[in-house]
Amino acid sequence: MRLPLAFLLLPVLFSEAGARPLSRRAVLESRDRLPAGWSKRDDLNKRGVVPVRINLRQNNLERSDQLLMDVSDPDSPRYGQHYTAQEVADIFAPSKETVNAVKDWLRDAGVAPHRVKYNHGQGSLTLNMAVADLEELLHAEYNAYEHDTGALHLACESYSVPASVKHHVDFILPTLHFDVPLSKRDGDANDKVLKASKVGWPDKSATRPKQGTTVENIFSDLTNCSQQITPDCLRALYKIDYSPVTKDQNSYGIVEYTPQAYVPSDLDLFAKNFSRSTIGVRPKLVSFDGGLLQSNQTGSDFNGESNLDLQYAINLVDPIPLTLYQVGDLVESASFNNFLDGVDASYCGGDNSTEDGIYPDASNATGSYKGPESCGTAKPTYVISTSYGMNEADATPAYERRQCEEYKKLGMQGVTVLYSSGDSGVAGSGGNCTNPTTALSANGTRFTPGFPATCPWVTSVGATQINPNSTVFDPESACEQVIYSGGGFSDVFAMPKYQKTAVAKYFKDYKPPYTAQQYNNSQATRGFPDISANGANYVVAINGNFSLAFGTSASSPVVGSIFTLINDARFAAGLGPIGFVNPMLYKHPEALNDITMGGNQGCGTPGFTAVPGWDPVTGLGTPNFEKLLALFLSH
Ligand SMILES: *[C@@H]1O[C@H](CO)[C@@H](O)[C@H](O)[C@H]1NC(C)=O
Ligand SMILES: *[C@@H]1O[C@H](CO)[C@@H](O)[C@H](O)[C@H]1NC(C)=O
Ligand SMILES: *[C@@H]1O[C@H](CO)[C@@H](O)[C@H](O)[C@H]1NC(C)=O
Ligand SMILES: *[C@@H]1O[C@H](CO)[C@@H](O)[C@H](O)[C@H]1NC(C)=O
Ligand SMILES: *[C@@H]1O[C@H](CO)[C@@H](O)[C@H](O)[C@H]1NC(C)=O
Ligand SMILES: *[C@@H]1O[C@H](CO)[C@@H](O)[C@H](O)[C@H]1NC(C)=O
Ligand SMILES: *[C@@H]1O[C@H](CO)[C@@H](O)[C@H](O)[C@H]1NC(C)=O
Ligand SMILES: *[C@@H]1O[C@H](CO)[C@@H](O)[C@H](O)[C@H]1NC(C)=O
Ligand SMILES: *[C@@H]1O[C@H](CO)[C@@H](O)[C@H](O)[C@H]1NC(C)=O
Ligand SMILES: *[C@@H]1O[C@H](CO)[C@@H](O)[C@H](O)[C@H]1NC(C)=O
Repeated sequence: MRLPLAFLLLPVLFSEAGARPLSRRAVLESRDRLPAGWSKRDDLNKRGVVPVRINLRQNNLERSDQLLMDVSDPDSPRYGQHYTAQEVADIFAPSKETVNAVKDWLRDAGVAPHRVKYNHGQGSLTLNMAVADLEELLHAEYNAYEHDTGALHLACESYSVPASVKHHVDFILPTLHFDVPLSKRDGDANDKVLKASKVGWPDKSATRPKQGTTVENIFSDLTNCSQQITPDCLRALYKIDYSPVTKDQNSYGIVEYTPQAYVPSDLDLFAKNFSRSTIGVRPKLVSFDGGLLQSNQTGSDFNGESNLDLQYAINLVDPIPLTLYQVGDLVESASFNNFLDGVDASYCGGDNSTEDGIYPDASNATGSYKGPESCGTAKPTYVISTSYGMNEADATPAYERRQCEEYKKLGMQGVTVLYSSGDSGVAGSGGNCTNPTTALSANGTRFTPGFPATCPWVTSVGATQINPNSTVFDPESACEQVIYSGGGFSDVFAMPKYQKTAVAKYFKDYKPPYTAQQYNNSQATRGFPDISANGANYVVAINGNFSLAFGTSASSPVVGSIFTLINDARFAAGLGPIGFVNPMLYKHPEALNDITMGGNQGCGTPGFTAVPGWDPVTGLGTPNFEKLLALFLSH
């Protein structure tokens, strides 16, 4: 039997004779083993025609740090003059030289120029080609592969391009990438897709949040904020006394991954007790890749994160509208890359099926999303908060660097991107640490930083607490109830310039007692978090009752609310959004409350310690809204 696959798109119209000059080749990618679940078949029709996509090397990447700093560093003459989405696309679009070099290669290889289409927005060249010709072009051998689920895929194990072309090409599809739709197998629910397992809310660690602890009486004044955090406690803690004026001109986005879903009646229950003006207020739903509010699975594991994020965000920024980016269907769910695809079409096409959801969903299961992949179908809001994370050790550095570049592009457009820093202190999700070969295991001892919290182009948010028997008027500590603030030093990302002075001071004055066996102590990698906010004892309405929640999951949306209010004031004053805030925060730590107590234990150690100045537990400290407002309005 010959495989039909989807290969027979076009009649084979061309023959690629043409003398090919002998040229030096460079292997672009290769792999030594197949991803799990795939096996080779021997019935590929090599005369079948397939769509080929050549992703070209982006231009100006080496300048991109500087381009972001130009508009984010308060001392830059261009501060606040963000780029439009089109300008960002143009800056990173492949250079003419790159486009021409690859076109020349194809022409020399006998491909008629009219068959090659250049897509400026996506930075790629596309063409249709017979498999046999593709083999010749890439010096590769193609095979058909079949997955356990029955899905079919075309792939090779290695491919090369002329050495002179190598630095113009990122990667070519189809090649090694098994980015094909797969149906998820039972019992597999967490390994493939949401590696981005929820940070914080019901983390599957020993320190399980007191979920289900029903709160009988909500204290109505500020004397008991050490036992229960309410919106008024946060307003008192962070000096938030502000009424927004710009409303619809502003926007604040919260990202949630299916099957997490908020419960509308819980939003109203919360509103009834804490801000009657928000009864009936719902976020605007932006669905990416079939994202929906499922209501069949309930409980804190399914509603906790969404309810927490939205109840506090709606309350704190009222009446500024909230946008809910709900990502992924019920079968596959989704990854951070799927979200990024949704706000930037040019990012689509590079997903990895090991890590990312692949849409349309090939599964036959109920709830699989059959529509087209969401590519640039919605705009980013001015502030975006995400309370999910994964371990740096879960994916490859290349995967993480590619994603991190994308956050930089959002920053260039004036978008503030916040991620919670993790709930297991210096350990990874579940409290596990890595062993020397970087695999996560129960007996690992190496600290395990979280991603995207370590990407230098996001603002990473850690957690604090009001100490027992203290009040909102006393200094907070690093959170040491139920959860520990994620923090430390990246194993992947170099230290960004904006934090060099602060981190150098930390190492000079408070050198931590750990060795290179435990973390990258070169003082040359990204330290996190950047900022923090209370993450203990949040009163949240869940399934008709109030419970207490803990985590950096709570901290990130609160910090996002504060930045959204600051944007409001800037818009009212005729200024633009604050965008990427880290350069400003590190230059003006006086606008934050320095946290100097507590630590972030993990991996069998006490972790790092909160000290004067920046530290890898609470970053620069918690927000002082009054001071931040004055600071950002003066630039
Ligand atoms: C999905 O449905 C198709 C057509 O009904 C069937 O051939 C295929 O075996 C099904 N796949 C799975 C994984 O159930
Ligand atoms: C919430 O407010 C209602 C009155 O609107 C009150 O009856 C109820 O006791 C409050 N809930 C809690 C847990 O205090
Ligand atoms: C604060 O908590 C204490 C101990 O739980 C309780 O006795 C007191 O009544 C609470 N204060 C308020 C104002 O509810
Ligand atoms: C809930 O489950 C029912 C039956 O299993 C199904 O028909 C429905 O589509 C599901 N709805 C959601 C939102 O999950
Ligand atoms: C996809 O991701 C997995 C796990 O991070 C990695 O091992 C693999 O090399 C990636 N595949 C490609 C083609 O980048
Ligand atoms: C952590 O280790 C335990 C014990 O080996 C294991 O059951 C669990 O799955 C691990 N968690 C993660 C997130 O790796
Ligand atoms: C860690 O655990 C693995 C199995 O989970 C075991 O193979 C290994 O020997 C252990 N390492 C140490 C140092 O105990
Ligand atoms: C808090 O105050 C209560 C009552 O005054 C006391 O029993 C408890 O020990 C105090 N806790 C701490 C940590 O000081
Ligand atoms: C630590 O980070 C530095 C800078 O990125 C790097 O050169 C070094 O190899 C890293 N050390 C280890 C042990 O990974
Ligand atoms: C709320 O909690 C009470 C007591 O813990 C319980 O009886 C009730 O069923 C809960 N309500 C809901 C809607 O779960």
